[in-house]
Amino acid sequence: MIKELDEKYLEELVDLSEEVFDPLEYNFFGKSSSTEAIREGIKRHLKAGRIWGYFKDEQLLGTIGLVVNKDYCLGKVQDFMVKKDFQGQGIGRKLMDFVEEHARKNENLKELRLSTSNFNNIKLYKRLGYSKASWVMKKKL
Ligand SMILES: CC(C)(COP(=O)(O)OP(=O)(O)OC[C@H]1O[C@@H](n2cnc3c(N)ncnc32)[C@H](O)[C@@H]1OP(=O)(O)O)[C@@H](O)C(=O)NCCC(=O)NCCS
Repeated sequence: MIKELDEKYLEELVDLSEEVFDPLEYNFFGKSSSTEAIREGIKRHLKAGRIWGYFKDEQLLGTIGLVVNKDYCLGKVQDFMVKKDFQGQGIGRKLMDFVEEHARKNENLKELRLSTSNFNNIKLYKRLGYSKASWVMKKKL
């Protein structure tokens, strides 16, 4: 079952993020991967957009978030994660299908975007129908 999450799920969202994201790889929210930074990031995401959770037997197994830009009919997908032991079993696909359906029908969006700093996810996102839109380059000063 997929249902919308609110601040009541904040700590579960923080726990899931910490389990799933490798802090070295992800540099969460562009700042720090401390628990507090993750908590603040999720709070911001809940205010700016919506997050849905995939539940089985009342256990939260995965999430997906969406921020809508009505002016450009664009949506940004974020907080896409599935508990480690349940990855690769189709839950991510179900969450992505759900968000796409919602974006099309309820928000009238024409395009979804997402960013990833994990090279390994590119194949997975291609499989989910995404194509690469840009290269981001950076130089530390
Ligand atoms: C990314 C993530 C949410 C996907 O969830 P998931 O439940 O594992 O995904 P699914 O099992 O539904 O797989 C989705 C599709 O990608 C495919 N896929 C999965 N891993 C793949 C890989 N390494 N290479 C190519 N395709 C892959 C699956 O076959 C499936 O396609 P199909 O439905 O046509 O068979 C999950 O793996 C995760 O939490 N990863 C760590 C956190 C993360 O990186 N989040 C994204 C941040 S940008």
